[in-house]
Amino acid sequence: CGIVGYIGAEEAAPILLDGLERLEYRGYDSAGLAVYSQDDGLRVVKAKGRLRVLADLVEGGKNIHGTVGLGHTRWATHGEPSDVNSHPQVSASGRIAVVHNGIIENYVQIKEFLESKGVGFVSQTDTEVVAQLLEYYYRGNIMEAVTKVLHRIEGAYALGIICADCPDQLIAARKDSPLILGYGEGFNFLASDVTAVIKYTREVCYLEDGEIAVLTRDGIRVFNHPYLQPVEKEKHHVDWEVSAAEKGGYEHFMAKEIMEQPKAFRDTVFPRIQDGRVVLDDLNLDGDYLRETDKIYIIACGSSYHVGMVAKYILEKLLRKPVEVSLASEFRYCDPLVTEKTLCIVISQSGETIDTLAALREAKRLGARILSIVNVVGSSIARESDDVLYTWAGPEIAVATTKAYSTQLAVIYLIALRFAELLGTISGEIYDHIVSELLTIPTKMEHILENREAIQYYASIYFNHESIFFIGRNIDYAIGLEGSLKLKEISYIHSEAYAAGELKHGTISLIEQGTLVVALASCTQLFDKLMSNVVEVKSRGADVLGLTVESRAEAMKKTVDHAILVPDTHPMLLPSLDVLPMQLFAYYVALMRGCDIDKPRNLAKSVTVE
Ligand code: G6P
Repeated sequence: CGIVGYIGAEEAAPILLDGLERLEYRGYDSAGLAVYSQDDGLRVVKAKGRLRVLADLVEGGKNIHGTVGLGHTRWATHGEPSDVNSHPQVSASGRIAVVHNGIIENYVQIKEFLESKGVGFVSQTDTEVVAQLLEYYYRGNIMEAVTKVLHRIEGAYALGIICADCPDQLIAARKDSPLILGYGEGFNFLASDVTAVIKYTREVCYLEDGEIAVLTRDGIRVFNHPYLQPVEKEKHHVDWEVSAAEKGGYEHFMAKEIMEQPKAFRDTVFPRIQDGRVVLDDLNLDGDYLRETDKIYIIACGSSYHVGMVAKYILEKLLRKPVEVSLASEFRYCDPLVTEKTLCIVISQSGETIDTLAALREAKRLGARILSIVNVVGSSIARESDDVLYTWAGPEIAVATTKAYSTQLAVIYLIALRFAELLGTISGEIYDHIVSELLTIPTKMEHILENREAIQYYASIYFNHESIFFIGRNIDYAIGLEGSLKLKEISYIHSEAYAAGELKHGTISLIEQGTLVVALASCTQLFDKLMSNVVEVKSRGADVLGLTVESRAEAMKKTVDHAILVPDTHPMLLPSLDVLPMQLFAYYVALMRGCDIDKPRNLAKSVTVE
């Protein structure tokens, strides 16, 4: 879900709608606006469905006037998607409007309390309690009411608040849900994400947990909670182009982002290789620390977790230290074996995934050192880590990640090489070979992307299947997991990834005439083993789409129905090539099924609720 708030001299509604459009990618099911003008007072318009529905209701902003307002796109948690459950939520008098990301965990108690005082509720949302509680505490001073409310509510929130009695200001507050402030000349913004404001200003600051901001046309003041002491905020300049968050001629952001991968990989890796050596200036931990480290824990969600799966194979092989990979949502509640000697690598595109952030905090509490791999500069995970290695993928808009995944992998290679060098667990010859191969990856990626018609053709053969299996061993298994996730996310085809050796223990019972099995066999040392599994599924009627390296093309073509080939490289780096055909296959299948590729149903780009 997304928040945008504007206060300035222009009509607010068109600016808010534009901001919301730029936040659409985060996933939502309803949207709304609150705009104040002296003539009309505080007007709130909201609607279930796409932003277009809201934009039509307000005629693109032409029939709702005022130069201050809030906008919101909602992804339903408490209360089904509906007009009344959309934000802004308004207090009973209509005086105070609130937009909110996050979850107010104690909303039931507050609601009961307010109901006992005679307050009536119109929605099923947790957010309405914030609006109503503000009204309950309001005695003519909105800041006083805000501080009282913040004292009472528990859970996670990014809040935007407007009060009709003091319409020359907007109030923002945050706890565990991102909120940025954008500084302009004669205008100011609050937003959940810089994409919403980048067209108007590049000067931003990140609100910290517990801070409250008051925005007027002339400036922004930030205070801490509960003492309301002024806080000096550091401004950051956002240097990416507006066009980075636009489609640039592509039908979908996902297609654009798939094609951007060679560049994103180059941007992430090349500046960090100097004279044939991996140089990680942004890393503070050293060889002494690493030698003392007895375990590496990798924590992430979704595709970032799949990068962790690949990382385990690579790091254990090169560092000879145990690596455990954990889903952040599991890590939080499993009483993890983490000590001061544990290094936690936290992987997150957004840097805001709530489970990952909570897991990071838990690991920190247990004494671990945190190294994060993050794409969004200044995000919560980046700020709370001991070390951060940024992926330079640029803004990723499509819900299904592609270029962020690829750059996360790239950072894993860099970490593996640098750590192995520090620990002395890699020979000079192998190190040099991997580094030189690393530099060839973007060109090899380009080669795969240039030949994407073949994948489009395979997608046209199989797009109407209802169930698709991915099999692989070792790193190929990890890529299968990502290929399967991409496919189910955007095409809604049921799909599963299996470690090929596990087939016989269950999944093979699902293989029947015409079932599609995608067989990943790029690890040449396991090629023959995987091909035996291919024979097993083929003899039970499966259609097999294989993937291997060019040097194994002939051997594979003999057995499978269709073969996808990727250039040869060092085995450790193959995931970066293997994943591209998987992304393209998912993309073309979804395209042929007419799916909403960039905004798949029920999914959000950044999951900031547990
Ligand atoms: C959501 C996105 C996925 C992403 C996951 C983790 O589910 O749809 O594409 O992999 O969150 O997000 P993060 O920002 O932490 O990498």
